[in-house]
Amino acid sequence: MTVNGETKSVSIDPRTSLLDALREYMGLTGSKKGCDHGQCGACTVLVDGRRINSCLTFAVMYQGQKVTTIEGLANGDQLHAVQQAFVKHDGFQCGYCTPGQICSAVAMLAEAKAGCASAVTADLAAANVTLTDEEIRERMSGNLCRCGAYPGIVEAIRSLAEA
Ligand code: FES
Ligand code: FES
Repeated sequence: MTVNGETKSVSIDPRTSLLDALREYMGLTGSKKGCDHGQCGACTVLVDGRRINSCLTFAVMYQGQKVTTIEGLANGDQLHAVQQAFVKHDGFQCGYCTPGQICSAVAMLAEAKAGCASAVTADLAAANVTLTDEEIRERMSGNLCRCGAYPGIVEAIRSLAEA
């Protein structure tokens, strides 16, 4: 598979989760293991631009696909706009959930821009969605933060939506 623009080839047990393949076999420890059963979102990565919980899925399912982890978002020393917004708006404390939060935010901004409705979207026919705080909270509800940095996370994403 292609991970952060590089071709990676690993020989693994077919039961290996994508998260374990990234962390244990490719040395990409940015994606975190919080719960290992789909509850916290700390392991969120992007596959062909869509966010997934990498702990819930087998690595072999992504043979030949493009995976992006937190390590692949910045362009050299230039942080991705979502990373910059999290820094500016204090969207974290300990940082454990942050890689997942940021990957999730990158994909959710694209989803909203493409007009994908959420459970709280009033106008399902709208071509694109206005990201109110309620929309942001709903769309980020799969990413938990034990430090409770939620106000900063919402503010960071709102600032990008407004921009
Ligand atoms: S580690 Fe994957 S959702 Fe918690
Ligand atoms: S910043 Fe500590 S868990 Fe979210």
